[in-house]
Amino acid sequence: MLDLHCHILPGLDDGAERLEVSLSMAAMAADSGVTHIFATPHCNTRDTRKNFRTPALIDAYTALQDALDRAGIPVKILSGAEVLARGRFAEHLRAGDFMTLNGSRYLLVEFYFDEDPAYMERCMSAVEAEGLIPVVAHPERYFCVQRAPELAQLWAERGRILQLNKGSLLGELGEDAFTAASLLLRRGAVSVIASDAHHFLRRSPEMGELLPLLARRFPEVDPDLLLRRNPLRIAKDQAL
Ligand SMILES: [Fe+2]
Repeated sequence: MLDLHCHILPGLDDGAERLEVSLSMAAMAADSGVTHIFATPHCNTRDTRKNFRTPALIDAYTALQDALDRAGIPVKILSGAEVLARGRFAEHLRAGDFMTLNGSRYLLVEFYFDEDPAYMERCMSAVEAEGLIPVVAHPERYFCVQRAPELAQLWAERGRILQLNKGSLLGELGEDAFTAASLLLRRGAVSVIASDAHHFLRRSPEMGELLPLLARRFPEVDPDLLLRRNPLRIAKDQAL
């Protein structure tokens, strides 16, 4: 499996706070069958840790990979960021300040939970105007999607990629997120499921627990497509 969304880089956001946590997260992911992790720190947030495309951020992916290799943990780190659509989002887009997923055309974008759908649409159009493809992080967590899941379906029909959180399907992120996630999954609107892990204890990168749940509750879903083939296509900058 490839985990498209994971806060595994140490000390850069509210995910792994130090390298030991990153290593434990990677070991847990590897044990559950994950071979590649896109390291996607929060980016363009209100605080000072913007995680724009800088030499320091690029060094952070390499440093974590070196540490994993030294520890013998068989996981490949791919670059990325979870870009919050707010503030001077469009300006930063045009300036190329955001790390796309493994340097591909795919950009992982998140919104405030209570964001206005018209603003979300403008931001996704701005991403597309730069020749990039929006990957919408956890659409099931946005209030507008919880109220009207058809909205996210429409995004998918327009070529935006929907990435569900594992935790939503496991019921860890509330009933509304679970209901919206289930519906989008059953309607075939979802392209990827990822961990959005922040630690190894809570919101973990363990992906194995998802498989029996998918088999039992969503037999129409192809786990290999959502957990391996689609994220692999994104890593290779291929069409889904
Ligand atoms: Fe995230």
